[in-house]
Amino acid sequence: MLQIWRLLLICTAGVLAVPAAGSSADSATIIHVLVAYHSSSGNTEKMAEAVAEGVRLVPHTEVMVRRVGHVTAEELFAADAIVLGSPVYWSNMASEVKAFIDDWQFKFGVFPEFKLKNKVGAAFATGGQISSGKEFTMLSILAAMLGNYMITVSGGGAFGASATTEGNSPGIDEQEISNARELGRRVADVAGAVKRGLERQ
Ligand SMILES: Cc1cc2nc3c(=O)[nH]c(=O)nc-3n(C[C@H](O)[C@H](O)[C@H](O)COP(=O)(O)O)c2cc1C
Repeated sequence: MLQIWRLLLICTAGVLAVPAAGSSADSATIIHVLVAYHSSSGNTEKMAEAVAEGVRLVPHTEVMVRRVGHVTAEELFAADAIVLGSPVYWSNMASEVKAFIDDWQFKFGVFPEFKLKNKVGAAFATGGQISSGKEFTMLSILAAMLGNYMITVSGGGAFGASATTEGNSPGIDEQEISNARELGRRVADVAGAVKRGLERQ
């Protein structure tokens, strides 16, 4: 009889000592990344797809790629991270992208609660010329994100990933695609760390 009790005790201790597979908060957390962009001739769209590829390299992520005008309130608020891409128009972001950012208030009413607070934000851009506004375009996007109390990150470049598409450039090259993937991967990594950290609070 004593032997049976001893056996039962050992088995119970063993079960308690081994965490059930997939039961930890970390492994259950899915990171939702929204990649939103404007593109007239396909360049920024190509970078958006590469950003999404980078996100997919990180386990437990779901990525949604959307043109800025097509993002719904549900998609915006479900995202743990928003990566926003624009072509450079006159050294700044395209009006479609700015309209999308303004819609965070006009359509989605983010203020005064700061509903995008603590979401991770990042930017990417394509421009015709080597030095004619890509960095400023990304910084303008990041500035709007900071104004929304988002946590901005770079990657694939100091301010985000970018590509040169005209002039002497043969178009978006492998290095630029790889930078865009790197940005997506970093965004997913940071968003995961932030989400898990917030869940523990
Ligand atoms: C109205 C307009 C303004 C532009 N201004 C700039 C500019 O200031 N600097 C730059 O590098 N490229 C400029 N471009 C080129 C685009 O940024 C570039 O072709 C971009 O890759 C287009 O992206 P898309 O193919 O996603 O539409 C301009 C293009 C247009 C149509």
